[in-house]
This record gives sequence, C-alpha cells and structure tokens, in this order.
Amino acid sequence: MAEPDLFSFSPPPDPEARIRELRTSLERHNRLYYTQTEPEISDAEYDKLFRELEDLEKKHPGFHDPNSPTLRVGGAPIEGFQQIQHAVPMLSIDDVFELSAEAIEKLTDEQVRKVGRKCAEHELIEFYQRLQKSRGHQDIAVTIEPKIDGVAVSLLYRDGKLAYAATRGDGTRGDDVTHNVRTIRSIPLELHRTSDIPVTLEIRGEIFMPNEAFAAMNAERDEEGLPTFANPRNAAAGTLKQLDPKIVAQRPLAFLAHGLGAYDGPPLDSEHDFHDLLESLGIPRNQPVLTASTLDEVLEAVAQINHDRQALDYGTDGAVIKVLDRAEREALGFTSRAPRWAAAYKFLPEQKETTLMDITIQVGRTGILTPVAELYPILISGSTISRATLHNQSYINEKDIRLKDRVLVQKAGEIIPEIIKVIPEKRPLDSKKFSITNVLNDKCPACGGPIEERITESGPISTPRTIITHFCINFECSAQIITRLTHLASRKALDLNGVDETVAEALVRNGLCSSPLDIFTLKQETVANLNLGSEAAPRRFGEKNAAKVMASLQFARSRPLNRWLYAIGIRQLGEAASKEMTRLFNDFNDLLKPPLLSQIADRGIKDAWLKKNPLNPQIIAISEEERDRRRKISAAYKPDVARLTKELEPYAISPDLGGVAAKNTLDFLLSDAGRHFIKHLKELDINPISDNYLPKATEADLSMLPFAGKTFVITGTLTMDRDEMKALIENKGGKVTGSISAKTHYLLAGEGGGSKKTNAEKLGVPIIDELQFHQLLEDYSN
Ligand code: IVH
Repeated sequence: MAEPDLFSFSPPPDPEARIRELRTSLERHNRLYYTQTEPEISDAEYDKLFRELEDLEKKHPGFHDPNSPTLRVGGAPIEGFQQIQHAVPMLSIDDVFELSAEAIEKLTDEQVRKVGRKCAEHELIEFYQRLQKSRGHQDIAVTIEPKIDGVAVSLLYRDGKLAYAATRGDGTRGDDVTHNVRTIRSIPLELHRTSDIPVTLEIRGEIFMPNEAFAAMNAERDEEGLPTFANPRNAAAGTLKQLDPKIVAQRPLAFLAHGLGAYDGPPLDSEHDFHDLLESLGIPRNQPVLTASTLDEVLEAVAQINHDRQALDYGTDGAVIKVLDRAEREALGFTSRAPRWAAAYKFLPEQKETTLMDITIQVGRTGILTPVAELYPILISGSTISRATLHNQSYINEKDIRLKDRVLVQKAGEIIPEIIKVIPEKRPLDSKKFSITNVLNDKCPACGGPIEERITESGPISTPRTIITHFCINFECSAQIITRLTHLASRKALDLNGVDETVAEALVRNGLCSSPLDIFTLKQETVANLNLGSEAAPRRFGEKNAAKVMASLQFARSRPLNRWLYAIGIRQLGEAASKEMTRLFNDFNDLLKPPLLSQIADRGIKDAWLKKNPLNPQIIAISEEERDRRRKISAAYKPDVARLTKELEPYAISPDLGGVAAKNTLDFLLSDAGRHFIKHLKELDINPISDNYLPKATEADLSMLPFAGKTFVITGTLTMDRDEMKALIENKGGKVTGSISAKTHYLLAGEGGGSKKTNAEKLGVPIIDELQFHQLLEDYSN
C-alpha cells in the first residue's frame, strides 16, 4: 500500500550537501569544457550553478574550501611569495641541441638553415646513439613531443585535491603560486574520481598563454596605450608573478602536463600509462606525443613536429625527446642536474629580411593612433606577413626605423609579426626618418578631427623613459563610432536598454548611425527591423526590444548633465569627474563660459608637471640641458599654480576632477566635433542640465536669478524626474519645500496630487501645471 501522501514532506535542504554537490558538479563541467572540450551544459546554465554555490557559500561561511570553484575568480591578494620545497627536485634538460645566439649572428640566413640544422641534428643523433649504447646497441623506444614555451610549474595533489602549486625556482625550492594557479580553469582543483586516485601526485607541466588569447590581450593593451608583452611566455611569467589573483583570473592562462614528480599510486610502466592516468584523472596533457623506435623515426618525428607546430595554440621552440619505458629511464639515471633519458631539440625561429615600404596610421577603437609598418609581403612560419605594429614614435626612434629600410622580421613568440631590427648596412640612400606628428598634422587620418598627445613616463626615476601616444578625440570619428555608441548607451552613461555592442555595430553597419547621437533620430520600426545577423543568416532585433530602446531614448533626453558628459567618452572624464563637473557647471553653455574650466585644466596640468618633474638632483640620467629646460618651466609654472589654487579655493573642487579631464573636456567642446555635438543636441531638442549644481555665487548674483526668493511645492507625477525638477528650480534661485504654507508662492501640480491642492486652494496659493511652470520660468528670465 502506498504511503499516505498527507504526512510526506521534503526534508529541509542540507546546505552542506548541496554545496558539496555543486562544487563537484561545477568541477566536472569545468573539466568537460577545458580538458575534454565536450561541454554538456550552456554557459548560462554553468553561471546559474555557479551563482547558487556563491550564494550558499556566502550564507554558510563555515563550509569554506580553498579549492571551491567560486575561488577561481581570485581570492585576496598576497603579501609576497612563500617558498615551497619540491617533493622531488624539478630538473631541467641538459642536452639542448641548438646553435648559440653568437654563432647564429655570424652565419648568413642560408647557412643557418643548412649548417645550423645539421649541427643540432648531429647532436640529436649522438644522443640517440648514447641511448642505444646503454642498451647494448639496440634500438630504443622514445616519445617526441612539442616543447611548450611557457613557465614550468609543479602541482601537488594529495588524495585528489590540489594542495599547492610551485614554480621551478632553483629546482629544489620554488615560489608558492597556489593563489594564482587556482584561477586557471584548465587546472583541476579536484581530480576526477572514477579511477584509483593516487595518494600523492606531483604533476609537472607548463603554464602558458594560448596564442590567440595572447594576441587579443596584447591588442587590447595596445589600444589602451598600456605596455604590451613581448611574447606569450613573458605574459605568462609576468602574470604568474602577480600578487593579486584577481588580475590573474582575468588573464587567459592555460596549463598542460608533461611530467611526473613525486608519486604514490597505481604502477606506471611506460609513458603511455602515465598519459592514461592523466586522462582518467582529468588533467590536460601536452599533445601530440609521437613515438619512435629507430633513429630515422626520431628524425622524422622531430621534423613532423616542426612542420605541424603552427597549428598548436601555444608557442613552441623545439621538441622534447624522452625514453618511453620508465624502468629504462631509471636505469639511465640522472646527472647532477638533468635526466640522461631526455633531450630537447630547438627549432630556429624563422626570421626574414624585407623592405619597409611605408608607415601608415591605424585608428583603434578607442581612438589611439598607432603607426603600422607596411612591409613587402614575406612568408614566415607558415603565414604571409605584410604589416607589423610599430606601437608609438618612441619605439620607432629607439630602433631607428626609417622608411624604405631593410628590416629583419620575425613573429614574436612565433605569432605576432615584429621588426627585430633594421639592417643599417643595407639602408638605401633615400631612406627617410618618420615623424608621426608631421604625418598627422594635428588631424585624425580617419575623420580629420582633433587629436591629443599623451605623454607617459615610465621606468625608474633615475632613467625615465618617455612614451608619446596620440589619440583622436573626435566624438564622431568614423573609426570609433561603434565603441562610442556602445559607451553612450552603457548603463552608467545614458543606459539605453538593449543597445549593446552587437546592436551598435548593426546600427553603424546598416548606415543608420553615422554619429552616436543619430540613435535619437531612429524610428521604432527601423529599430525593430534591424538585422543583427548576417545577410545569409538574418536575425531581427524585434518589436519588443525596439519598444524598450525607444522608451529608454525618451528617458535619456532628460537625463542629468553628468550622465551626458560621461556618455561622450572623453578620456579621463569618468563618472566621478563628470559628477563633480556638474556641481560647478549647470549645462553645456556654462562649461564654455570662461574662465573656470580652463583654470581647472591649467592648474591641474601645471601642478602635475611640477610633481612629475621635480628638480631632484638625484635624477642623474637627464642632461644638463634638460635640467635647465625643466628649471625654466618650473619657474614659470610655480607662481601660476599658486595663483590658480587661491582663485579656485572657494569652489573646493574634489580631486575626482583632475586637470587632464578638464582640459580634455574643454578641448572637446571647443573642437569642431564638440561644436557639432552641441549643435546636434540642440537640433534634437535635448538640453541636459545638472542636478547637482551649487553655484558659488554671491548674494547679489543669487538675487539676479529668475526664481530668486520664490518658494515652490511639488505634488503629483510630473513628466520630468522629481529630483531633476527640484534641481532646476534651485538652479534658478528658487526653493522647494515639502508643505504648503502662506509663504509658498506656487504649487506645481502634476498628475494626481490630492491634499496639497486642497490646501493651496484654501490659502490662495496659485496652482500651476508643468506647462505653466515653463512659461513662468521664461517670463521671469526675461
Ligand atoms: S619533459 C626533467 N616535456 O622545458 C625534464 N619538458 O628545458 C623533463 N618543457 O624543464 C622535461 N615542454 O619545464 C618536458 N613537453 C615537454 C616540455 C618540457 C616544455 C620545459 C620543462 C623543462 C624544460 C627543459
């Protein structure tokens, strides 16, 4: 008989069990995604589980676990690196067959390819023959795999849980990088428990940055004017050295295993067993691994890897050859530093000479203007190279790169084309120096708009290095319009519901927006019909979404001035600076009224200059001439800064609003682009005003304002935001109070509004609606 349902109840959920379940499940999906590349659930479903676990962990801090998948976003920063003693020393490979850099310098390209390879091959043959000899001159099976150009790490798992991760260090002791390693998604925090889990498992492998992710990250850094990494290896090494794991979590690091340290688990006879073990535990391993059992096969396999390595997603500069059988490895043993059973064969990076035909200027999506080398096309490491970034003028000067030069090119980290050096002996007589300032001639090459020079000083104070970058600051620059529109629509700017980068791109691509403000001219029908897909696979934006966009456009029209200022996307003018601006200025016209904005700019910039260029006798690296120049500028700036500081004192300007932000704003507003922007706003009948304005005016000034001495009470629903209306009245000198009295001058009544109206009628206070209010303002203003 079935149990009566009446008394059945679901037991209260056990948070600990659910937390455990979620952790295991998330790690499983992580493994499916990163190691097996066969995800079972969508990203959204993963996020949902992740958030549930996050919530539960927050509510039940007692169940904290450093290996929880939620900590992959990075925990608290550490103070410094602890040292960890490796359970088994982390050895390196002694037998690395390559030509020394000096030897290569002396050879011609052709010789390097022929003789160089021969030398290294010869050594490889000797290595294999040594192995054969140790086995009584029999052939011996070896594996051949790509050598990952990354950072060596050791991962220690105890009972299937990641206990710690350490760098190689001196081979005996390395840095504890567990906090950073936990953020790397392809490293399991807990091993897959289908097989016998080794009690102790010390995995050796490489942490690297995948080529594509590296290129994307570098491109983004270049866009932002940040220093770029020379190659994926440097990027990986630099990232792993971070003290703050949150930064690491945002960098695309990956891991592949290739070796074993301490081990206490099921027996492993050969490298194949080891690979099977890795796979069953869900640890990603380096591939391809070829096997060879004769000398010819070894040479063939090395050539094969060299040929195929372009397709790998990591940088590789060689192949590692290892004895397959673990008992044979033991018999061969170690020298003091390295195993006798392993060797590495280094591939030469392909470098080629070509001609620098021209230097063009590329406009990035943030407006950065980057000089790009246009090269006579050449084939390097499997792809045709015809362009290479030159970063900035300082880079060009340092390498003394001139137009028409013969240059030596390679792919940095085997992926990003770069000019290694010019070949001065081959410099043609008509080579020409390049100056970005002359070429730009103060105009953006894409739109002709105004540009701004940014000077950053980096390096130690004793040997400062100046880097000059140029930016196009035109709000309507065609090359930047998608980014600008996306920014204008973003949540902290005008918050245009549903307008993200995809929509912005479609709007621009379909010719509907040739400036960000054009979005205010669109019809609902046009927006609904917008094709977010391609011509072949169209995807309509749709009525519902379009209606949302129209509503938020309507709302945006009355957004306060600080949001509009921020929405322009002026460099350095962030949210806080925009807010502070609107405490000092009421609308766009106000900003242009001299002299306040230019005073802020002037003081800020001169002050920053003085701070950055102290006449410090310790700066030995600058010439006497430079010191003299700085002395003169200081003498001119100091009194200015003192005077301006005094004049600006009453405004108590918050440090949120810096001089650079003020200067950039002024430059923008005074530029053709800025004037056009303001005109465009007027045509659209949009007049953003501050809801934050505190005029620093005298009593006399205040009495001049249209609503001076007038008291208002507001009731009912207005079309304008209540706070914005209040700000408007106050800006015009009026006061807004909460209740009607005999002293109230006007009751501004919107839709609805009850008792206040009755009170007003009783006391004879005039009741006006919004329309009448605007009329009143106009009357008083005249
Ligand atoms: S096996 C005991 N395999 O290169 C050394 N090492 O220069 C056995 N490396 O220390 C190393 N990829 O950090 C091996 N597929 C690979 C490798 C690899 C990169 C690193 C490793 C090693 C160094 C030797």
